[in-house]
Amino acid sequence: MAIDYLEVAVEIAREAGAVLREEAQRPVDISYKGDYDLVTQADKRSEAVIVSRLQRYFPGHAVAAEEGTGKETGSEYKWHVDPLDGTTNFAHGYPCFCVSMALAKGNELLLGVIYNPMSEEIFSAARGEGAFFNGGKMQCSKILALRSSLLCTGFPNHKRDAHPNIHYYWDFTLCSHGVRRDGSAALDLACVAAGRFDGFWEFGLKPWDTAAGVVIVEEAGGKITDLDGKPYVLGGKTILATNGLIHAEMETMAAEIGKKEKMGV
Ligand code: IPD
Ligand code: CA
Ligand code: CA
Repeated sequence: MAIDYLEVAVEIAREAGAVLREEAQRPVDISYKGDYDLVTQADKRSEAVIVSRLQRYFPGHAVAAEEGTGKETGSEYKWHVDPLDGTTNFAHGYPCFCVSMALAKGNELLLGVIYNPMSEEIFSAARGEGAFFNGGKMQCSKILALRSSLLCTGFPNHKRDAHPNIHYYWDFTLCSHGVRRDGSAALDLACVAAGRFDGFWEFGLKPWDTAAGVVIVEEAGGKITDLDGKPYVLGGKTILATNGLIHAEMETMAAEIGKKEKMGV
């Protein structure tokens, strides 16, 4: 059953992605939700397409979409939608952004789709069915050690100056092949699932940022917890996503960084 939902989700993500591609050709119309939290015409147009299609195909389902135009309650089936993840990149013409959609039944994530409309890359998964990249099977990397890994992270749009992640960025950079900061949490997770990155962590992400990526990483053989190694809950304070093989090492390192940071070292 999840597979039928997945087909529809992929179709809708492609349609919304086409809107983003079209918007990318036009001057950007930026407004601000916070000091650095941008929103553009493209976020809104993409969300309008997704919400209207979901309402048409699945009128009973709830839709939690970032720009707030979905009906969030009334069903155990809920879509988590980020109509444009990577808005800052989009606004600057850096082609690293995507549409991210996931379907949950109660607390269980059934499927996820992440679509980069500029590279036309589609990452998807249905629970128990595996993960796919442009239709072919996809798996996390086999890198065994943190010192040989390529990592990624992101920084929140709110209260940046008061945020500890710069300490984590520093230390993880020194003990790995490097840490990328690409500006789209959903694509970061997709890249862990595709084996391009071996690990990802971030603070303060919302359900629409991570829902699709979580199911895709897990179905690609990876592991998701919070930074303390506890089960990740959507909207939780932290997330750690890895190929599974470097998870324990990243958790240990995160705990050490957290201790130093609290002591002001
Ligand atoms: C942002 C991106 C970014 C992450 C931010 C998110 P948006 O989402 O995922 O990588 O670091 O925390 O808010 O605002 O572009 O949808
Ligand atoms: Ca986002
Ligand atoms: Ca967004």
